[in-house]
Amino acid sequence: MFPVHRPRRLRANSAIRSMMQETTISPNNFIYPMFVKEGLNGKHEISSMPGCYQESVAEAVKTAQEVYSLGIGGIILFGIPEHLDDLATSAYNANGIVQQAIRAIKNKVPELYVITDVCLCEYTTYGHCGVVSGENILNDLSLDLLSKEAVSHAEAGADMVAPSDMMDGRIGAIRAALDSNRYGDVPIMSYAVKYASAFYGPFRDAAESTPKFGDRKTYQMDPANRREALREAALDMEEGADIIMVKPALPYLDIIRDLKERFAIPLAAYNVSGEYSLVHAGARMGWLDYERVMMEMLVSIKRAGADVIITYFAKDAAKVLNR
Ligand code: PBG
Repeated sequence: MFPVHRPRRLRANSAIRSMMQETTISPNNFIYPMFVKEGLNGKHEISSMPGCYQESVAEAVKTAQEVYSLGIGGIILFGIPEHLDDLATSAYNANGIVQQAIRAIKNKVPELYVITDVCLCEYTTYGHCGVVSGENILNDLSLDLLSKEAVSHAEAGADMVAPSDMMDGRIGAIRAALDSNRYGDVPIMSYAVKYASAFYGPFRDAAESTPKFGDRKTYQMDPANRREALREAALDMEEGADIIMVKPALPYLDIIRDLKERFAIPLAAYNVSGEYSLVHAGARMGWLDYERVMMEMLVSIKRAGADVIITYFAKDAAKVLNR
């Protein structure tokens, strides 16, 4: 082959390199996660996630304006309520923190696409994603509460709901509840393939949702499993998911690729808190170039097959891309 073939010819300068670039990312591929906290004045930086904040509704509105002006595709809202109980009642209270935030954001930035995380872990005393009885997480009872939560978010004006609880049958239950409440046009982005991952560590500081006992392994997936991802995705598609998600992203690029090849449904990847924090930590140590590592991560996730990326890097990456 050599010397006839010299791949370096097409890498000689930035003009030809950019012409040959196979994967591109753009701010409209990103969804920015936000944490709204009830009873908070102003904002509070999450120590394990530099640059990310728990925010009051008023602060969240300002952030939403910034996100919109950067051309970012949308936001996903997480709520931290003042009141916790066994049935997660704050999750489906019409005046709950997420419901308030949706209304305030839609009022000031009506064109920003607002997605809500639908889960019980931030709202229950035990910090599990479903209702607890003894040491068990009750699947079917949780479906009713998750459905009420999704309908309540839609009522407040959410554009899309994203259930992250990993209870069996929740996509079907939520679809039916939305449809029978006249929200047939509200799409569902399912956290279909969600692994029981140590990379969620910093998020649990952000959302104050660390389980009070046990772990999430009876509902989230074993990181060793690949075929199970296909089954989970297929089930959620049958139940009516509009978009399916793989989470985390970077340690599961093979899974993203598998789903992309197998299914013709839009695919999201969640570049989770731990993936964000480790880049910040490395950069603070002076061991990594923050900006380059961030962009390389995001392009890898897109190259693997993700159509949209939920990422705490959204604002920083959008600024790089908008330069
Ligand atoms: C739970 C939920 C989690 C994340 C999103 N929704 C955490 C968990 O399952 O413990 C993690 C996101 C991240 O780490 O950035 N409802």
